[in-house]
Amino acid sequence: MSNYHIKDLEEYYKVYRKSVREPESFWEEIAEEHFVWRKRWDKVLSWDFKSPEIKWFEGAKLNITENCIDRHLFTKGEKTAILFEPNDPKEAAEHITYNQLYKRVNQFANVLKSKGIGKGDRVCIYLPMIPELAISVLACARIGAIHSVVFAGFSATALSMRINDSDCKMVITSDGSYRGAKTLDLKGIVDEALEACSCVENVLVAKRIQSEILMKEGRDCWLQPLLDAASTECAPEIMDAEDPLFILYTSGSTGMPKGMVHTTGGYMVYTAYTFKNVFNYKEEDVYWCTADIGWITGHSYIVYGPLANGATTVMFEGVPSYPDCGRFWEVVEKHKVTQFYTAPTVIRSLAKEKLDFVNAYDLSSLKVLGSVGEPINEEAWHWYNDNIGKKQSPIVDTWWQTETGGIMLSPIPYVTPTIPTFATLPLPGIQPALMDELGNEIEGKQVDGRLCFKYPWPSMARTIWGNHQRYKETYFSTYENMYFTGDGALRDTVGYYRITGRVDDVIIVSGHNLGTAPIEDAINEHPAVAESAIVGFEHDVKGNALYGYVTLKETGESRMHDNLRKEINQMITEHIGPIAKLDKIQFTGGLPKTRSGKIMRRILRKIAGKETSNLGDTSTLLNPEVVQEIMDNAL
Ligand code: WT7
Repeated sequence: MSNYHIKDLEEYYKVYRKSVREPESFWEEIAEEHFVWRKRWDKVLSWDFKSPEIKWFEGAKLNITENCIDRHLFTKGEKTAILFEPNDPKEAAEHITYNQLYKRVNQFANVLKSKGIGKGDRVCIYLPMIPELAISVLACARIGAIHSVVFAGFSATALSMRINDSDCKMVITSDGSYRGAKTLDLKGIVDEALEACSCVENVLVAKRIQSEILMKEGRDCWLQPLLDAASTECAPEIMDAEDPLFILYTSGSTGMPKGMVHTTGGYMVYTAYTFKNVFNYKEEDVYWCTADIGWITGHSYIVYGPLANGATTVMFEGVPSYPDCGRFWEVVEKHKVTQFYTAPTVIRSLAKEKLDFVNAYDLSSLKVLGSVGEPINEEAWHWYNDNIGKKQSPIVDTWWQTETGGIMLSPIPYVTPTIPTFATLPLPGIQPALMDELGNEIEGKQVDGRLCFKYPWPSMARTIWGNHQRYKETYFSTYENMYFTGDGALRDTVGYYRITGRVDDVIIVSGHNLGTAPIEDAINEHPAVAESAIVGFEHDVKGNALYGYVTLKETGESRMHDNLRKEINQMITEHIGPIAKLDKIQFTGGLPKTRSGKIMRRILRKIAGKETSNLGDTSTLLNPEVVQEIMDNAL
């Protein structure tokens, strides 16, 4: 028997040691005992971090939806699979049982097929957090189509870039979405995006807000009538373990967002195994992850991981502050939520509000609290622990990335003693390494360096869609034979890891991974802007906020700076989305540059963070005089 569920610290160490000594038999036993395969693998793992090429369970055949749905029907067909909690608390929650999910996914899969979608085709999903989102994801997986979910807060330009990059044949969207007291016109955004996309043949539109929208003849179809007419049986497409399951875009420090490609077998095994252990999942639990399915957290820990375990997973359409800041806690009480998984930025924003919002509700059902997306600061950790967990629920600070597919470093609740701000230990199968800037591994305890992994794990991304070279350069070229995360970390005296933050030009704002380059590109499109540089600065709710340094063209510009600031943020909203808006915009006469023309962000970061007492070495600057000017006018 494999050690599928780890119950104490001694067992953790035992299992961990086995996973490092005999990784293949470790994963093989788990894969064998806990999943259904149509054909067994020929080889558990083959890998090479130079090419790089990674294959898990090669030769195996399966369909992930059989594992997430079909196999549960005999034992728990009437159990709630997806518990949908709408934006408006007055609207009733919807309990979708495994039996119903089976039918709805099959109907949706048949609709996709009727529109010419088949194995390997890319389907872009641009939907709010309504059941159709999870169902369309699973419907794609049912027929072997590759889903590319784009978070429904991205702009038309961002959406069209993603659609074109992976040549999507279809877009699935809705008439609009609810967001607290507001509505968003999603279909309008899709229409605008599609003006720049020639690859899309069909658009399926779910009805959510009953708004008047334009339907383009021959391209757009209302979803519901098609679903109603479709059969509730759709045989699963039998996939290779290494067939792509989905593409999910994540920002890099430069250029186009990267379409991370995740494959089927290893992803399923790893997300299911980590869900079980990191959330101490038990059969009667009601698990709630507040992320959007538009992010990897939602893919792995709202949809695939929980459903592969036959769990009840909550899908929440709303926002934490609507109708008031007690909304999350009201939902916890109402559905007797047992595991609650959210982001530090949400915790910090709710911690600013009166405790009455928390204390009005009975939170005694909770037994595990999770955090993900950025480092959780000590204050937020204690607020979460004291007021939400009442010091009874362990906090799992889970470190991972879009690229890793699943949680890599995390305490196991009721097993690993936690320390605030530490993601603690690697999960079984995960082999971290800290590297110095010269490329040497830093051994021992009480050290810090750049976080890498020296051995593959089943859910790692296999490539970047259409750009394997970039995959190699970004993750496997900084250090030989290592996957490089882009994060810094320290390891303490007991071997616990603490993430210190990004070491590249990616800034995490409210848990969203934002590359500086695409934002700068957006700003630079403004006719009055000559050049810009973005850095992050500490923000008590968002973790980091964005500070932009902008130089204007010498055009005798007469517009007021405040208007320009608005216009610049408008440009960003159009190109990327409101999440990338700048909190501060400083107009400067120039930007500090090295002789090779590289903007010295290190200095700009210090000025934005008001740490100007020691700017470090500025001797390589081409134009040191601008530094004083920037300091004098800092915001
Ligand atoms: C980056 C990945 C994984 C889902 C959400 C983000 C940061 C993530 C933690 C944590 C400190 C964290 C890292 C990482 N990050 N979790 N628990 N503690 N930092 O996915 O958008 O791909 O971002 O988020 O910097 O590299 P993502």
